[in-house]
Amino acid sequence: MLIDIKGKDIICTQELSISEIRALLKLSKEMKSDRFGEKYSSLLKNQTFLMFFFNPSLRTRISFEAAATELGGHAQFLEPKTMRLKKTSKGVEVQAGETIEDAARVLDRYGCGMGIRILETSVENYGDGNAILREYARWMKAPIINMADDKYHPCQGLSDIMGMQEHRGELKSKTVLMTWAHSSLARSYCSVHEHLLISSRLGMNVRLAYPKGYDLPEEEISRVKENCQKNGTSFQIFHDPDEAYTGDVEFVYSRNWFGPDFYEIGKEAEIFRASKMTDWICTGERMSRTNNALFIHPMPVDRGKEVTDEVASGPDSIIVDIAENRLHTQKAIMAMTIAGLKVDV
Ligand code: CP
Repeated sequence: MLIDIKGKDIICTQELSISEIRALLKLSKEMKSDRFGEKYSSLLKNQTFLMFFFNPSLRTRISFEAAATELGGHAQFLEPKTMRLKKTSKGVEVQAGETIEDAARVLDRYGCGMGIRILETSVENYGDGNAILREYARWMKAPIINMADDKYHPCQGLSDIMGMQEHRGELKSKTVLMTWAHSSLARSYCSVHEHLLISSRLGMNVRLAYPKGYDLPEEEISRVKENCQKNGTSFQIFHDPDEAYTGDVEFVYSRNWFGPDFYEIGKEAEIFRASKMTDWICTGERMSRTNNALFIHPMPVDRGKEVTDEVASGPDSIIVDIAENRLHTQKAIMAMTIAGLKVDV
């Protein structure tokens, strides 16, 4: 089957078909093995990809910029302070003192596509970042690529899966443990949601461990459960930092996320509360009880809190491979959605 997603916005992998996900992963792997080959090096020739960052980044900014360069194009960095912001009555910043409609329609005339990063610290309510991103998508014909909003991080999810497949082959029926960890960073949900959605979608058994009170939004958990039901796989929740590390776990993803009341209590209170739960950490001893599990994480890693140095820098950590894959998956996304490359799956 020939997959064509030219013009498609990439906002969350749950909004892609399984065949579209497979096509993107297939192309990502081909692009990785032929990184500077002529086949792909002119796909964005003379074109400019816009990168609109409301929040900081290391991996996302550099990998998107490198991706545009390697496809023969250019990536332009945009941030709110250079674009004359104003506040709306809802406290949400919009661009250049004009409506998103007007800004987006103008940007559409310049760029071949636009990535947007808008995390929880740039908005007042959960979901506002995703809503702003979708508003740009509504008004731009060129594809919008989610570079992480307050709900989803599709490029990260695809890169996680690519790395896991590279190291362990077919993922169907394998088990991933996603466990909460303490941290001084009060982290958002986007990478966690995306990983739970895509791994359950691709037929993995999913374990979720977190302290009582740290429930993820019900809407996303329902989708993960539904994905597992459709695939006949298991979805289990644990409220103990130790119990879920058992012999069938092949991947451990240990990461902090803030509690559901974060938007009311704020960052300082969240960090204080999390600092009391130091037993929630991925250690070598816990990893030793799994099926030689690989350690995965979207990075940046909060070492000594989310995971010990021994695990993060150890032979079973594939975090840097996954970070590298951001480049390849984003090249594949740009090639298919912007340049219109079709992939047979
Ligand atoms: N994983 C990730 O998105 O990293 P950055 O925040 O550094 O871009």
